[in-house]
Order: sequence, then structure tokens, then C-alpha cells
Amino acid sequence: MQDILNDICKTITAEPNKGKVASYIPELACIDPEQFGISVALPDGQVFNAGSAHQLFSIQSISKVFTLTIALGKLGDAIWSRVGREPSGDPFNSIVQLEHESGKPRNPFINAGAIAVTDAIMMGHKPRETLGEILQFVRFIADDNSIGIDEKVAQSEKLTGDRNASLAHFMAAFGNLKNPVEQVLGTYFHHCSISMSCEQLAQAGLFLVSDGINESTGFRVVSAQRARRINSLMMMCGHYDGSGEFAYRVGLPGKSGVGGGILAIAPGKASIAVWSPGLDSIGNSKLGTQALELLVQKTGWSIFGH
Ligand code: DON
Repeated sequence: MQDILNDICKTITAEPNKGKVASYIPELACIDPEQFGISVALPDGQVFNAGSAHQLFSIQSISKVFTLTIALGKLGDAIWSRVGREPSGDPFNSIVQLEHESGKPRNPFINAGAIAVTDAIMMGHKPRETLGEILQFVRFIADDNSIGIDEKVAQSEKLTGDRNASLAHFMAAFGNLKNPVEQVLGTYFHHCSISMSCEQLAQAGLFLVSDGINESTGFRVVSAQRARRINSLMMMCGHYDGSGEFAYRVGLPGKSGVGGGILAIAPGKASIAVWSPGLDSIGNSKLGTQALELLVQKTGWSIFGH
């Protein structure tokens, strides 16, 4: 495995076209696109790293996997009255379907869906309390208490957050937000601004590899059925209108973030995190996807075969 990752790292770092870093969040616009990291965490506790696997980056929309998991724990199936579970076929920040579909976002991974999920898990609590809970959960699943939020990124998102504010107000107009819009947005921006390394992220995904149990810590995080369902949502919706392309090229459930990270799950095999800040035109990591494509070619991992 170490040889495979070293090879991938060599290929990816030599790639001339890195994609474009997200510029709509000013704090992310100044990240060096030349960086690349990859980590593969196995259920038996082994972790393999290559490149800048210990460098912290902004996990952005990957946090939506964690907030969905928390929401399912708190509300169970009731969350599905607030948000759907169909691919949107639209960009992550699109507003068009919200009007036709009465303020109910298509799925928990587009921005509108994640904002509704954030509102649902607040349950009348203050942003600080909800953020504390999200952070505690992420630290628990990654088995790492050092994980924190990058306040500068959160403030930067807030400054340029008109688009998310529009989505939130639009949902509020349909009665699909229960807490004050400003508080929901503040909580959402902050959980998107959690900083993690590839290694921490790969560890955090382990519960999705082994039917809800993090085998390396021995803790059950969710039921087997719930883990499978979260994986199915990642497969169908985790890359927005690029989800079909990701399924075709990589064949694993995955969730991307505009910080350039991707968490991918090979059920029964491994949790994989990659990071390359440059994005494709859809907003998914360009070389991160390519690295995962190389990894599945070399390992044979796929949910569509064995
Ligand atoms: O709300 C936003 O636009 C960002 N905080 C998250 C978007 C994102 O990561 C989309 N992913 N590829």
C-alpha cells in the first residue's frame, strides 16, 4: 500500500494542470494549489500516508457527512421531512429547485440541504452549543481531540455568504428553518470551517467502512443500516452534479469539499482521504479525483465488483 501511495503522489505532483482553488471564499483563495496529500486508513488501525497527509485543510462540505450523521441520530427518519435524498443534478449552491419544491432541498449534501440539516440539529440550542456538539462528534469518530475550527475561514465565508444567506432565507420563507437564519448560517459556516488533515479525515471515515463500527477504536457509531444509507447518499449526491462522473471514474461513495478534500469509502476495505486544493469546473478536487481513480485501479476497490 505504501508503494501504491508513493506512486500516486509522484504522478499527481507532476501533473501540470492543478485546477483552480476556490476564490469565492477569500481565505481559501490564498491556499497553495501545489500541495497534495493522501491517507488510507484500514479497519485494523493501520494508516498509510503520502505527500502532505498531515497538513490541515478546510474540510468544507465534507462536514455535511458528519452533520447528517448527527441529525439521523437526533431525529431519525424525521429528518427526511426537511430534506430529500435524491441527486440534484444542479450545482452545490443552486437555488432553482427550492422554489419548485417548496423550500425542501433535494439532499443533505447540497448547501441548502446542509443548512436545513444544521437547523434541525440545533433544536433551539445556541450556535456555540451545537458547534461544540459537532466538534465533539468529529473528534470522537476520528479519535483525535486536537481537531478544531479555523475561525478566519468561517469569518471569510460569512463575509461572502450572500448566496447561502439567500438559500437560508428562502427556506425560512417556506417554514423549513426553525432557528433564526443568522444563527443557522453562523453554525453552518463554522462547521464547514473545521480543519483536518488527510490522516484525521481518513480515520473519521472508518465507521462507514465497517457497517457503523470504528473497528480501530472498537466503538459503534451508527447501526449497519444507517452506515450503508449514508454511503448510498455519498455515492448519489456527494459530488453534486459531478456525482455520476465520480461514480463512473472512482466507483466508491465519496464526499468532496471546496477546500479540495475528498473522503471516499471502500466498504469493508478502507477509508481514504485525499487533498489537492485545485478544483474542477463543478467545484470538486481535480487531482484528488484523479488520485482516487489511480488508487482504485491499483487496488481493484469498487462497490460495483469484488
Ligand atoms: O457553503 C459553501 O459554499 C461552502 N462552505 C461549502 C461548499 C462546498 O464545499 C462545496 N463542495 N465541493
